[in-house]
Amino acid sequence: MNFYVMTLFPEMVMQGLNTSILGRAVERGTIAIEAVNIRDYTTDKHGKVDDYTYGGGAGMLMQAQPVYDTYLAVNEMIKKKQEDARTRVIYVTPQGKTFSQDMAKELAGEGNLVFLCGHYEGIDERVLEEIVTDYVSIGDYVLTGGELPAMVMIDAIARLVPDVLHNDESAQTESFHNDLLEYPQYSRPEVWRDKAVPSILLSGNHAKVDEWRLEQSIERTKRLRPDLYEKWEARQK
Ligand code: ADE
Repeated sequence: MNFYVMTLFPEMVMQGLNTSILGRAVERGTIAIEAVNIRDYTTDKHGKVDDYTYGGGAGMLMQAQPVYDTYLAVNEMIKKKQEDARTRVIYVTPQGKTFSQDMAKELAGEGNLVFLCGHYEGIDERVLEEIVTDYVSIGDYVLTGGELPAMVMIDAIARLVPDVLHNDESAQTESFHNDLLEYPQYSRPEVWRDKAVPSILLSGNHAKVDEWRLEQSIERTKRLRPDLYEKWEARQK
């Protein structure tokens, strides 16, 4: 799966995503992440990508031309890799639909994804109308730019791509799968600061362990995320 990020801060995106699990997946070629600098595509001879807004108001707006030309360049990159250059273009914005695990799952099925990161007061509406297929937010708060939200989404999506995680199981069993939070987990030592690991986990009885874990997941979800618990309960019926 190929991720393209249209941004004014490509180094921020690459540094953030090229480490640890995703970095190894990139090295293996399971995923590719390319941050494309919007400033490289401006026709302004001083490298300017923003200007004042018509109608007045505070702040600067990213202009249509550099964003559109970056998009065309990304399309060319996609075409070079494969014949079918169709792709979704996600504009990360607090005005978008709230990102979720379900959305991550859906997007993980795409071959290419392009993220558009805004800065300043936003982006000229006309280029958004021209290229954007999805408007997505990571939550009801406002950040200084779209890079962190794009990185959050790419991390959540990429880990669902087959072979990115070491064993597919860890993407299956954890929090939000089946609408339940993950059960508590323990590693060595058996006793730490007078706290012992629950004895059932040392029993070797896998059926009992599974049962205990499910109980814990249910109890934890009910206590910490009653909204998720209700969803899960309704699904059981
Ligand atoms: N850009 C600024 N804030 C954002 C948010 N919460 N989600 C997505 N993009 C953003």
